[in-house]
Amino acid sequence: MKKGLLISFEGLDKVGKSTQVELLLKHLKKKGVEPILVREPGSTETSERIREILADRSLVGKISPLTEFLLYSASRAQLVAETIKPAMDRGDVVVTDRYYDSSSAYQGYGRGIDLGFIDTVNMAATDSLVPDLTILLVADKSISNSKKNIKRFSPDLFDDRLEREFLQFRKKVQAGFLQIAKKEKKRFLIVDASEKKSEIAKKIAARIDRLLKNRT
Ligand code: TYD
Repeated sequence: MKKGLLISFEGLDKVGKSTQVELLLKHLKKKGVEPILVREPGSTETSERIREILADRSLVGKISPLTEFLLYSASRAQLVAETIKPAMDRGDVVVTDRYYDSSSAYQGYGRGIDLGFIDTVNMAATDSLVPDLTILLVADKSISNSKKNIKRFSPDLFDDRLEREFLQFRKKVQAGFLQIAKKEKKRFLIVDASEKKSEIAKKIAARIDRLLKNRT
């Protein structure tokens, strides 16, 4: 049996992540691979309920950063236990739209929760299941173009008066992602999200093909 593969996509909101996830799925299917697609937060019944809490507008400003982090982690722990781990054990290819690096970047670098603590919880929540490849989409203009998502998931950060803070937050998150990638160069493929969609997809596909080839 072939070894399972875990591929995660990361980056700021609206950076073109979902498009690339879809293109990769098509590429994999063309190669005869039937990937399992999940997204965070969510993708199991319990995790989707947790997602509802995180996206609930009536909780604006009421969820503390620590609670928020633990909710993302709880959603992740359930997803790994229920879906990702069993799929990996079966030797499947799993593609996830966000994974624990999002917690390090958003809750750690963005919100200031201790990074060591985040690492510990990340590993506990995932049973130390580290992605074989993490694709990080980076683009400068994405720093400022997604008020909608921040409003939905981090509403307390968004207020017209606090626009500058919101932009600073995104800058911190983006810098955080780059910092994480720098520490784990082998695991990451950084792509410039301002390039043509088809070019980005080609780069990702080339890297994936190598991974598939080397899979034992
Ligand atoms: P979502 O609507 O799924 O959008 P996206 O396409 O950007 O993934 O939004 C998920 C939001 O949750 C996004 O703003 C990032 C945030 N998030 C965290 O802050 N920490 C996390 O650990 C995860 C998984 C997501």
